[in-house]
Amino acid sequence: MKSESLVSITDYSKEEILEVLESAKHFEENPNQKILEGKVVATLFFEPSTRTRLSFETAVTRLGGRIIGFSDASTTSSTKGETLNDTIKMVSNYADLIIMRHYLDGAARYASEVSDKPIINAGDGANQHPSQTMLDLYSIYKTQGTLEGLNITMVGDLKYGRTVHSLIMAMSHFNPTFHFVAPDELKIPDDYKKFCDSKGIKYYEHTEFSQEVINNADILYMTRVQRERFTDLMVYEKVKDVYVLKNSMLNDSKENLRILHPLPRVNEIAYDVDENPKAYYFQQAKNGVYARQAIICKVLGIKI
Ligand code: CP
Repeated sequence: MKSESLVSITDYSKEEILEVLESAKHFEENPNQKILEGKVVATLFFEPSTRTRLSFETAVTRLGGRIIGFSDASTTSSTKGETLNDTIKMVSNYADLIIMRHYLDGAARYASEVSDKPIINAGDGANQHPSQTMLDLYSIYKTQGTLEGLNITMVGDLKYGRTVHSLIMAMSHFNPTFHFVAPDELKIPDDYKKFCDSKGIKYYEHTEFSQEVINNADILYMTRVQRERFTDLMVYEKVKDVYVLKNSMLNDSKENLRILHPLPRVNEIAYDVDENPKAYYFQQAKNGVYARQAIICKVLGIKI
């Protein structure tokens, strides 16, 4: 059985992404199976999380595996000065698989290089969040019936938003048109624009969250402005509430439009949107369990 880490969404080909989505469908239909009996999975969260950690732990539990780990690094020996290298080497003595979130870009790649057990990146700084992308793709496929040729509008913190960065790379396999809506301070980084250029992907940048851009979207991917990534909190105060989606703004939107958000939300989606049938963010989070069951099996080389 082949075991390989998932650190960046680019670690998977288009075929592998589709294979994981097919397997997620299987787990949605059959979530409780004893596939991981006898396996130990470590969840190491050096940064806060609600959905990612709990959905990974639900995924493992429903597959009959056992969890060890921590959700608060301040209770670990990293506070005594233990390095990430040593922590990962130790945990790989105990667990069959390590799921790790870290505040530093590149930490998951580093962990995968020093661990003799596979690593799943559960988010590294502003860099990548590949398991979120897999559940985003699954949600897009379920709601649109296809991943091909969609208008994807991404709104908010496109500079630090790791979910946005991973999703751009994954969707590049499926001929999307991107609309990037962000204030100048949170514009999509040039690296992602160059990536789109290299793949021949069309994209448009906007600073205004206009009715036209909402009405043309198949997927409206809202994001939180991430206070924890700012070095200058004055800049955060300036941009934190720059775009707020209200229910009235969806009156002339496409029938097939679905609103996604990786969550947590702060103010960027008004609560009156929650009752709109086009709001999909809570189902999206639920899809995370199935997508993560599929990823765990793939990483451990378990055929479904
Ligand atoms: N979407 C996401 O990563 O949520 P959490 O930070 O709660 O895990």
